[in-house]
Amino acid sequence: MDTICLPAGEESLKQAAALLRAGQVVAFPTETVYGLGADALNDEAVRAIFAAKERPADNPLIVHVAERSQLEGLCRVTPTAETLMDAFWPGPLTLLLMKTDRVPGVTTAGLPSVAVRCPSHPVAHALLKECGIPIAAPSANRSGRPSPTTAQDVYEDMQGRIPFILDGGACDVGVESTVLDLTGEIPCVLRPGAITAEDVASVVGNCTVAPSVMRPLKEGESAPSPGMKHRHYAPKAKMTVYIGTNEAVSAAINERYDWNDNAVILAHSSAMPLFGNRRVFSLGDTPQEGAHLLFRRLREMDALNVSLILAQGWKPEGEALAVMNRMARAAAFDLVEL
Ligand code: TXA
Ligand code: MG
Repeated sequence: MDTICLPAGEESLKQAAALLRAGQVVAFPTETVYGLGADALNDEAVRAIFAAKERPADNPLIVHVAERSQLEGLCRVTPTAETLMDAFWPGPLTLLLMKTDRVPGVTTAGLPSVAVRCPSHPVAHALLKECGIPIAAPSANRSGRPSPTTAQDVYEDMQGRIPFILDGGACDVGVESTVLDLTGEIPCVLRPGAITAEDVASVVGNCTVAPSVMRPLKEGESAPSPGMKHRHYAPKAKMTVYIGTNEAVSAAINERYDWNDNAVILAHSSAMPLFGNRRVFSLGDTPQEGAHLLFRRLREMDALNVSLILAQGWKPEGEALAVMNRMARAAAFDLVEL
């Protein structure tokens, strides 16, 4: 199959929407990462997403809508969900709600709940509006690779596997949406993103964070979200993440860095002068800049075939939880707090 990649415009949007309505798979930009979309209510179309990604069938997909009214008949929208949609939609917040029979089991991997999200990216919004159907879309990477934040990243992973990529430039946030479980009594963050647990609590009074967000699942512990039990965000190189002041982190990394090792350093911009002439790339200074750059850097490191990544992280709390959740997984939880 030839994979066509076109910049988003009136014509290409129409073409992409027609393909989606015909049950085909189309990659498109969102404010978080690129998604691999297909008709959420069409079994065959959804199966084609799983095949293109080589995604395990037990990992459910997020259903994307242009507006709230499209959820009618798909899931039970609770008053808490309404309040959160008022506050954060369109935007990078995915809500888990109880589904109806109209949503096929392949989309939710047999679960009784469905994840729903209304993206704020203008291209995603225009595409969803133009095609008029709910679109199931996981991140557009091959399973186990870092999520794609540019159309080029998508092409790398999906060339020959899908007919169409809509290019909307680089994604703003850079890590995937917050996944918030609303099926229990208290809202619970299963995957941290740009909308934090504190943001949610400020609107609905209370919000917890699943413990496995910052540590591996324990023996026998079941994953709150199926995505968490699969290996994620894995660069080819071995990776360690250091957390502490620029001075403490640079001292520890410089000590560990071996010139024969084909190692690279990913550091905060303000720390970069502290690494001498060792090979160092920037992760920005704030956790938001880190989130924006992380997956791009991990893909660059794969392309450079480095064997060791020594990275500077942030304290895993508040706004830094999203980027640290991904860094911890990329490093197979090899974290050093200094
Ligand atoms: O930002 C995003 O959310 C991107 C863009 C494309 O919208 N999408 C994305 O999808 O990251 P994906 O499939 O890569 O991640 C969805 C996560 C997975 O960890 C999955 O296990 C979880 O959401 N999930 C989806 N439906 C679920 C459900 N019914 N119950 C529990 N977890 C669910
Ligand atoms: Mg993903």
